Amino acid sequence: MAGDKSSVKPSSAASSSATPSVVMVTQATHTDIPDVCALYKRVWDEFKGKLPDELIKTWEPSPLEFTSWMEGVTYFAARRDKKLVGIVACTPNDGAVQIEHLAVDPESRRLDVGTSLVNAAIEWSRRSNANSIWAETLEIFEGAIHLFQKLGFKPCGELHRHFWNQDVHVLERVL
Ligand SMILES: CC(C)(COP(=O)(O)OP(=O)(O)OC[C@H]1O[C@@H](n2cnc3c(N)ncnc32)[C@H](O)[C@@H]1OP(=O)(O)O)[C@@H](O)C(=O)NCCC(=O)NCCS
Repeated sequence: MAGDKSSVKPSSAASSSATPSVVMVTQATHTDIPDVCALYKRVWDEFKGKLPDELIKTWEPSPLEFTSWMEGVTYFAARRDKKLVGIVACTPNDGAVQIEHLAVDPESRRLDVGTSLVNAAIEWSRRSNANSIWAETLEIFEGAIHLFQKLGFKPCGELHRHFWNQDVHVLERVL
């Protein structure tokens, strides 16, 4: 898999205000850990009461836990106006890449941040000679399902009662 340290992907994000924002996507490093953990907390706290507590606890890592998540995994971080507003993980797996832990700050949604992150993951997977890329998501993450489909991912199955009793939808894009 490609071992390059950074991938910069500027993309114009049309916002509802008159000033367009620029989303910068780079490979996350250890210096991003506090901001990434704070972002996951903001994002998954929104789902308290709607998803099992165990799931939310697992997806809100401490800085130490996130350090171990980074082992063998490439994370891309998105910034708007220098603020970390999005994150995604690319986990190589037998010639394919799994996209995991995609999250965008509630205040930066529908501004192409998620699109820029998933496109960075696709680009990185291609450069890593992966043959396909896939993601697992839950029914409740309707926006993510739309986002993946918009970017060419096709539904390819379900895992039942998989994440703490939640059915998981699997989407893939062959590269
Ligand atoms: C899903 C998520 C990552 C999308 O991020 P985002 O930056 O808002 O996505 P984008 O702005 O790039 O959206 C691209 C397209 O995806 C689709 N989309 C995104 N959010 C959507 C929503 N809430 N409802 C319907 N479609 C949505 C739309 O087609 C959108 O294009 P449009 O804005 O031109 O209509 C973000 O809402 C999020 O973090 N949600 C909570 C956590 C989550 O669901 N993580 C994914 C787990 S698998």
